[in-house]
Amino acid sequence: MKIGVLVSGRGSNLQALIDAYQLGKIKGNIALVISDNPNAYAIERCKKHQIPYEVVLRKNFPTKRDFEREMVRLLKEREVELVVLAGFMRILSEEFLSAFPMKVINIHPSLIPAFQGLNAQRQAIEYGAKITGCTVHFVSEELDNGPVIIQACVPILPEDTEESLSEKILKFEHRILPQAVKWISEGRVKVEGRKVIVEGAVYGTLPVNPMLEDFFW
Ligand code: GAR
Repeated sequence: MKIGVLVSGRGSNLQALIDAYQLGKIKGNIALVISDNPNAYAIERCKKHQIPYEVVLRKNFPTKRDFEREMVRLLKEREVELVVLAGFMRILSEEFLSAFPMKVINIHPSLIPAFQGLNAQRQAIEYGAKITGCTVHFVSEELDNGPVIIQACVPILPEDTEESLSEKILKFEHRILPQAVKWISEGRVKVEGRKVIVEGAVYGTLPVNPMLEDFFW
C-alpha cells in the first residue's frame, strides 16, 4: 500500500513511519509527504531519506477548497491509497475526505474523545486527569474524532509538566501510528459504525497499555 503523510512541523511521527518501513515492518512505501509549512523539520527528514515531498501553502490558494484540491491531486498522482495525518494542524473538509473514503487516519495526543483540539497534553494536566494517552483514529469531519483504531494510555504523575507528559505520550505515538498503518496496509481493519475490528490482533493483558503487546505482529 502506498501512503501519503501530511505534516505541519517536527515530523517525529513521520520519522517513526520511515523507520518502520525501512525495517520492513510495514509493506509498501511512503509515496509522498505534503507539508503545509515551508519550515517544517519534517521536510529535512524527507530529504535525508529521499522521500518525495511537496510544500503546499494555504496562502497560495484563494480558497480552502482549492488548497485541498491541490493536495488531493498530488496524492492521487502518486497513487496514494492511505492518507496519514502526522501532526497536520488543519481540519480537512468533507470533500477531501470523500476523495479517500475511510482511508484518512490521524494521530492525536489524548485518549479521544477526551481533550480534542490543540494542546491536548496541557488540557489533560489542567483538567486534573490521572490517565491520558494517544489515539490513532479514522478522520471524520469532526475535529479529532472518528472511529478509534488503537490507543495507548499514559499515567499523569503529580510532577508532570506539559513537556514531560508530551514526551512520554510521544513515545507511544511512535509505536501506535506505525502499528495502525501496518494493520491497514495488511487489509486487516474493518469498520462497523464507530467500531474498528482488527483481524487477528491479540489484545494483551498488560495493565496500562493492553494493546502494546501486539506491536508489529
Ligand atoms: C504529535 O504529538 C501529534 O499527536 C500532534 O502533534 C504532534 C506532532 O508531532 N497532533 C495533534 O495534536 C493533532 N490534533 P510530530 O510533528 O513530531 O509528529
